[in-house]
Amino acid sequence: MTNHRVEDSRREFLLTVAVGIAGLAAGSLPARVLAQPAGGSPLSISTIGAGREGGALGALFIKAGHRVMFSSRHPESLKGLVDELGPLARAGTVAEAVEFGDVVMVVVPYPAMEQIGKDYGNALAKKVLVIDVSNPYGGAELVKWVDDQGGAGLATAKLLPGAHIVRAFNAINYAKLSADAHRQGELVGVPIAGDDPHAIDVASSLIREIGFDPVVIGGLAMGKYLVPGTPLGGEHTAAEIRQTVTNLH
Ligand SMILES: NC(=O)c1ccc[n+]([C@@H]2O[C@H](COP(=O)([O-])OP(=O)(O)OC[C@H]3O[C@@H](n4cnc5c(N)ncnc54)[C@H](OP(=O)(O)O)[C@@H]3O)[C@@H](O)[C@H]2O)c1
Repeated sequence: MTNHRVEDSRREFLLTVAVGIAGLAAGSLPARVLAQPAGGSPLSISTIGAGREGGALGALFIKAGHRVMFSSRHPESLKGLVDELGPLARAGTVAEAVEFGDVVMVVVPYPAMEQIGKDYGNALAKKVLVIDVSNPYGGAELVKWVDDQGGAGLATAKLLPGAHIVRAFNAINYAKLSADAHRQGELVGVPIAGDDPHAIDVASSLIREIGFDPVVIGGLAMGKYLVPGTPLGGEHTAAEIRQTVTNLH
């Protein structure tokens, strides 16, 4: 992506955020979000889960100029990561990350999701966007429960009620993310699914900023295809993803 396109994308993204925020009920979002100028200010992004995938995605958002809080139940363990990533990176507890982020990524082992919903569900429901990167692994009972809900997207919506969820990056391996970002030639497509149009817009803009090509494959019900091992897993161009999706219906 050229610098010009990055700037256009950033402007479009910030405008989208500003317009979307203006359209939401006043008082439903933190004042800090309302103060975002539409002229190029970075967003505050949090990761709940700063392991392999959360760490790699957070690093890409920092590279794109955003502030990122990486969180852990033991934030001192993240010192090396944030030192390496520089002044836009910081570490915190999960509670601090939920408070910090305008956008929150949930990148945890799926069994942790239920407790996260209980502890932080109300706060997460007030975020512009919750990116669900987590995959429903964790034993037969969990897998069955997720299937019974209609798959990973609808299951996460049940665990994080009211959150503006977009599933994304679920089947791109953490070790590939850095090299895939801003790939030469055709960009790597990122299939995404969500029910909230504004959250989809914000997610799409962020994904473009970090050097991928977002492809909306449908609502959260389509999130069941956004797990490793489906035809959408791994690296594909946007055109390939669109073609694959037509065969899923
Ligand atoms: N690895 C990949 O390539 C990849 C690709 C796409 C999607 N995913 C999905 O991303 C998720 C994370 O995978 P990963 O490979 O990054 O795992 P990981 O390296 O083991 O990291 C897991 C992270 O989750 C946090 N965590 C665990 N339990 C938690 C809880 N109860 N509350 C808050 N934080 C908790 C851990 O933080 P603590 O320091 O507190 O333990 C750690 O930062 C999984 O659902 C996986 O399916 C992974």
